[in-house]
This record gives sequence, structure tokens and C-alpha cells, in this order.
Amino acid sequence: MIKCNLLIVEDNVDLCETLAHVFRKVDFQVQTSFNTADAIKILHRGLIDLVILDLKLPDGSGLKVLEAVKDVDPDILVIMITANTHVEPAVEAMKAGAYDYIMKPFELDEVKLVVQKALETQILKNEVARLKRQNATMFPKTEMFSVNKKMEEVKRMIKIVAETPRTSLLIEGESGTGKELVADALHDWSARARYPFVKVNCAAIPENLLESELFGHEKGAFTGAETMKKGLFEMANNGTIFLDEISSMDLSLQPKILRVLETQCFRRIGGVSDIKLDVRVVAASNRDLQEMVNKGEFRDDLLYRLKVIVISLPPLRERPDDIIPLANIFIESNNREFNKSIQGLTEETKELLLNYHWPGNVRELKNVMERAVILCNTPFIQADHLPAELNDDLASTGSAAANGAAALANSHFGSLAEIEKIHIEYMLEQCNGNKSRTARELGISRSTLREKMKLYDIPA
Ligand SMILES: Nc1ncnc2c1ncn2[C@@H]1O[C@H](COP(=O)(O)OP(=O)(O)OP(=O)(O)O)[C@@H](O)[C@H]1O
Ligand SMILES: [Mg+2]
Repeated sequence: MIKCNLLIVEDNVDLCETLAHVFRKVDFQVQTSFNTADAIKILHRGLIDLVILDLKLPDGSGLKVLEAVKDVDPDILVIMITANTHVEPAVEAMKAGAYDYIMKPFELDEVKLVVQKALETQILKNEVARLKRQNATMFPKTEMFSVNKKMEEVKRMIKIVAETPRTSLLIEGESGTGKELVADALHDWSARARYPFVKVNCAAIPENLLESELFGHEKGAFTGAETMKKGLFEMANNGTIFLDEISSMDLSLQPKILRVLETQCFRRIGGVSDIKLDVRVVAASNRDLQEMVNKGEFRDDLLYRLKVIVISLPPLRERPDDIIPLANIFIESNNREFNKSIQGLTEETKELLLNYHWPGNVRELKNVMERAVILCNTPFIQADHLPAELNDDLASTGSAAANGAAALANSHFGSLAEIEKIHIEYMLEQCNGNKSRTARELGISRSTLREKMKLYDIPA
């Protein structure tokens, strides 16, 4: 059965305990309450996925608890229990957002079935949302590809870690080496795959917001905290959280991450009690964390905790045997995307790809191939479909521009705007989305870049 944190609210103590027993036996985390007041307290402590709720309770109606549920988290599923003489309130409860109801007296198997159906529906809902998001980006999920020995070892490690239930993982590697792909694979290959995979780019969230993003806050925890907010750790429960660019995390926040790793517990900001979690933490960094520890910029205790298992991704220049096979894979995917039928690379192009030092690693290769496929109108990609930096000799004699111009003239695009859009997207990728740098590289002002991005519908 699907895992779940269950709350049973039922004033008949025997019935309550029987239900609790049934669900504990299938490995649910079960909490019980005999009245509305306790139930609401438990809900506010967090981490409930499903509530079995008696409609008639000694201190008020179950509808009050239902209301509290919707307040705390509308995604929590509620199954009402009603006496068979009380159909109307049951209908009212459904209108107020209950998922289903069961009439007393009932068989235990019936309850199990309704609960299972509710959880399956929830998972399907999540899956549909995930597929919609994936579809929206138009690109199917990338498989990690490699023929290199060191990378085979990486895959073997991912499989081993995936089979452990909770081991955390640190992924090191230069920018564009595939750290995020490793995190994706670890989640997908583990038993956590059907639960959430939450990605957090620690560098992209302002320092003062990161703590409340990660841990959430209680209502009234600080000015502006008008409602309780769940943090990303809570949202990742049962699944995986990916802390990307963990080197950017403020020193003061690091002990809190260490605490989650060590105790699997955390508190929301302003919270008074611990919340228990079951999350695998995967962290990635493209900076040398040991060096940062030596300089006092990263906490040694957190590094040692994260370092239990480390995967170090070799830069592309240290696995040259991957360059041509990867280039071919990217040609194929771009052929599909741009409706082209390019057959491969000329010998000269291969030579250039192999001789280049690839500072941006696989991401750079992927971008270079996308651009080449767009520009190419011959069966094989030629040297002059590659950007200038891949051909140092040409670049230094100044004929790179001529090269580029020839390539553009040969291309099937009539419009200058189209080329401009592609080039801006390309430079943005090369500069990791940094707009100041992109503008500088393009030789235009930031505001001009902004205008052009708006004009061409390029997401900021
Ligand atoms: N082995 C691989 N096979 C296929 N595609 C790959 C491979 N490695 C990386 N890529 C592609 O290269 C791009 C960069 O990969 P990814 O985002 O995982 O790198 P990263 O190490 O997280 O980079 P950064 O440090 O800049 O965040 C992605 O588009 C990814 O799909
Ligand atoms: Mg990354």
C-alpha cells in the first residue's frame, strides 16, 4: 500500500484504536484524536496526508476539523465517517471538500479500500501535474549518456545509493557536467520515485528568504507571515530534496541542514515542536567545498556529514571518448526538435570538437550542437557551423565573423530576428542565465537585452 501519514479523529475509543491498528500494520504513521480540539492541534503540527474524520464529536462537529484541514493544506485528503441516519451532513462535508464518506457500520476492508483509492487518486493527480510541467518545457527527460569508464562507475554508485533508503549524497563537478542529471537519476531509480522530487537552487533564492523557503513558517512567526506556510523539506516528504549550489548557502543556515540530516527532524520558523520527516538529501556544488571549509566559508561538520558518499563528475575534457557520441545524440534530438535530418559530423568538425577544452562541459556541447543543427543545411555538420571559440586559428585571424556570416547565409532562416533570438538564447545559456554578463558579451546594454528578451518571448 502507498505510504501515508494518517490522522484518525473518532470519539469511539475502541473503533479509533482498531482503525489505528489496521493502518499501522500496513506501515502508515498513525496519530489519533478523540475530539476536534486535539485534532486541530495535530493538524497544525503538520505532515498529515489523510484524515479519517468522524462527523459527530463530543466537542463539536467534524466539519470544524474539515475547515481547519482546508486552512492548513487543501491537499490533505479527508474521509468522513457518518452514521447512516446522517446523509445530509455527509453531503455537506463533500461540498466542503471532503474526498469521500463511509457510513457506519462498516467493514474494515471497506475503509482500507476507500483510503487506498484516495491515495492513488492523489498520486495520479501529482503525476498528471508533473507530466504537464514536463510537457510544458517540450523536452522529454534527458537520459544520462556515457561510454566512459569513470562515468560507468558514477552510474554504479548512483544505483547503490538509490537502493539505500536514506543515504544522502554530495555531487561535485564543474558547471555543466551533469550534476542535476545525477540527482534526477538517483531519485528515479530509488523507491522514492513515486514521491516528490523537490529541487532548490540555493544560489537563486535570496539569503534572507532561503530559510523560510526550506523550512516554512508558522502563522505569525514574523511580520507578514499571515498564514502557516509549508517549507520545501516538508513538500519533499517521502521523496528527495536536491540542494543545488549548496556552496551558496549562508553559514548561519548550515547547522539547520545538518540537523535535518542527523535527526530527520526540523521546525518551521516560529514553531515550537519538531516535525519528523523522511527525506533523502542530495546536494551539489561546482565549487570545492573542502577549500571553502579551509577558508571558513563552509561549515566543516556539514561537509563531513554530506561527504559520506560523494560522486565527482569528471569534466568533459577528461572523458574525450564521450564527446563524439554525445554530439551525435544531440544531433538526433535536435533533428527531431527542428525537423531536420542531419546525418552527422565531418572529420574536420570531429577534430575541432575533440581539440576544444569545453569549459562549459556537456551543457556547452549541447548548446554548440543545437546551434550547429539550426545553422546547418548540408547532410553533415561542417567546421563553420561551430562557434568561433572552437576554432582558435580562425578566431585569431579574424575570419570567424566571415565564417559565421557564411554559415548564417547558408542557413534556411530568412529573418535576422530569428537568428538574433537564437543567438541571445545561446549566450544566455553560455552565461548561465546571468543577464549582465550576457549583455556584456553581446555588446548591448542590460535594458536592451531585457527589451529583446521580452520581444522574443525568452523567459527571464
Ligand atoms: N551524460 C549526459 N548525457 C546527456 N546529457 C547530459 C549529460 N550530462 C549533462 N547533460 C546535459 O547537459 C546539460 C547540463 O547538465 P546539468 O544541468 O545536469 O549540469 P550541472 O552539473 O548541474 O551544471 P551547473 O553546475 O551549471 O548547474 C543538461 O541539459 C543535461 O541534460
Ligand atoms: Mg546544475
